[in-house]
Amino acid sequence: MTSGIEFAHVPVMVDEIVAAFVGVPAGFVLDATLGGGGHSEALLGADDQRSILGVDRDAAALAAAGERLARFGDRFRASHRRFDDIDGAMAETSVDELSGALFDLGVSSHQFDAVERGFSYRASAPLDMRMDARDAVSARDLVNESDESELVRILRDYADERFATRIARAIVAARPIDDTTRLADVVAAAIPAPARRRGGHPAKRTFQALRIAVNGELDVLPVALDHAIGRTVKGGRIAVLSYHSGEDRIVKERFRFHSTGGCQCPSHLPCGCGAERTVKLVRVPSKPSAAEMERNPRSTSARLRVAEVI
Ligand SMILES: C[S@@+](CC[C@H](N)C(=O)[O-])C[C@H]1O[C@@H](n2cnc3c(N)ncnc32)[C@H](O)[C@@H]1O
Repeated sequence: MTSGIEFAHVPVMVDEIVAAFVGVPAGFVLDATLGGGGHSEALLGADDQRSILGVDRDAAALAAAGERLARFGDRFRASHRRFDDIDGAMAETSVDELSGALFDLGVSSHQFDAVERGFSYRASAPLDMRMDARDAVSARDLVNESDESELVRILRDYADERFATRIARAIVAARPIDDTTRLADVVAAAIPAPARRRGGHPAKRTFQALRIAVNGELDVLPVALDHAIGRTVKGGRIAVLSYHSGEDRIVKERFRFHSTGGCQCPSHLPCGCGAERTVKLVRVPSKPSAAEMERNPRSTSARLRVAEVI
């Protein structure tokens, strides 16, 4: 480390990710969620025919990864943007085609640990949660300006929160709420005492849901997967690590769509609709090993899916 940029994030299922890209055509793999560059470093180190186009919407991640990967020279190029703008990233870095893409969804440990960014319920900070500081809407805006039914929808859709109605009502009654610990206290008080004592911090799901809403995380994912598949050469692979059911459902659905071409012909008959399949699903370990889960509890909820362009 030369500039003192600290970026603490342990990459998940690194060996499985490196294995997923063995044998894919030489060239650029898009690391759509560069973070601290842990996965990219492993991919670049494993194969000298491999280059990486790293994308992240978080300027701090790009700075840290740029430093970590500088020794790979022109084999590493980076672009600061959202991962659904793959064409923009390729044009900016003069990359014509992809050998594959990696999506390691969600937040990095660094984002949680940077208290002032407001992702964590564990320390007091302004309610922010924007991955990209250029974005207009923060968690503070959502918490203080959404009506109750919209808060219920966010809590249900993005975190399967059982107590969504109670929490939304409590938030509306307690406004204005500007601070992470104040929000965590309001949420904890809204949850019935027996439930509060089970299943981790009572505000964990609310913070997850707000973060996903603030950053539009699920809205951009299907588009990004479609574009990544469309820009990847034959034999290239798309690997996705997701961390909750809402993300995994989208990945499963888009991979199924591309692996069937949208064909709905009865399975006992030959396809007569002319659907074109663009990927095949690749069998890989879908979960981290028990040893990895033990070593890195953040990996426990990870699910890996891989598809190959045909
Ligand atoms: C789990 S971390 C990735 C960690 C990385 N694989 C590593 O080894 O350090 C997810 C990263 O993706 C970024 N990210 C999340 N959604 C994004 C999006 N829609 N567009 C671009 N970057 C995004 C976050 O800012 C974060 O840095």
